[in-house]
Amino acid sequence: MKIVVIGGTGLIGSKTVAILRQAGHEVVAASPQSGVNTLTGEGLKDAMTGTQVVIDLANSPSFKDEAVMEFFRTSGRNLLAAETAAGVRHHVALSIVGTDRSDNGYFRAKVAQEKLIEASGIPYTVIRSTQFMEFLRAIADSSADGNNVRLSPGLFQPIAADDVAANVADVALAPPRNGIVEIAGPERAPFNEIVARYLKAVGDPRQVVRDPEARYYGGRVEEHSLVPLGEARLGRIGLDEWLRRSQAAA
Ligand SMILES: NC(=O)c1ccc[n+]([C@@H]2O[C@H](COP(=O)([O-])OP(=O)(O)OC[C@H]3O[C@@H](n4cnc5c(N)ncnc54)[C@H](OP(=O)(O)O)[C@@H]3O)[C@@H](O)[C@H]2O)c1
Repeated sequence: MKIVVIGGTGLIGSKTVAILRQAGHEVVAASPQSGVNTLTGEGLKDAMTGTQVVIDLANSPSFKDEAVMEFFRTSGRNLLAAETAAGVRHHVALSIVGTDRSDNGYFRAKVAQEKLIEASGIPYTVIRSTQFMEFLRAIADSSADGNNVRLSPGLFQPIAADDVAANVADVALAPPRNGIVEIAGPERAPFNEIVARYLKAVGDPRQVVRDPEARYYGGRVEEHSLVPLGEARLGRIGLDEWLRRSQAAA
């Protein structure tokens, strides 16, 4: 089967491409580097020829509210139009658990992306994932105030990128759900406690301060803002195991 992975060079994209190639599929790792640009439309028509499944794992180069909204709206429109013209049979996209329950600019842009997909008429599956463990450092940096990292005690359930990619590949090979599938890591604990465990394990001296008012990319974090409310597929790699693997790979 021919599968195009938009953002196929990214963190989740490159792992997903490897899994699908290993399973014997013809996989195009599409990105601006390979001449496929969803913002300008460059290369999309050619990439779609003969394609049955498209997996959208692209991300905005800027996380500023307006830039990220512009990225997911324009990319979504261009990509879905090219898929409609080519008769693509399954569109898979990676979104975020709680996008519709927290008020931050990045989440609003992901909701806009999901709405375009639902309205496109293309059979689809949206995978909503919790935060990637690989994103913990960026989260700490974005919440840092000098030597303190201020984080809400709202619940947090990060997932390893390897588990995300395995689920994305699995969903892409299954029939479209025309709905949402949620995935999360195997452990759930307060946001501040997980980031404190991470910083301690990597030898980062910054102190995590429990602050119920601390914002996450501008949005309030209530107890259940960032975790699945219903059934979710759980990854297998816990934080300690992920830390062991990343330290061994370093
Ligand atoms: N971070 C999290 O915790 C989290 C949680 C849930 C869901 N997600 C979602 O997961 C998805 C993948 O994230 P990631 O961390 O794997 O992303 P990433 O590593 O930043 O990779 C982004 C990919 O998008 C490509 N790209 C950028 N601009 C493009 C364009 N104009 N046209 C086509 N491709 C373009 C990049 O290509 P180049 O290499 O050529 O630049 C790269 O392959 C995102 O949609 C994100 O919203 C993230």
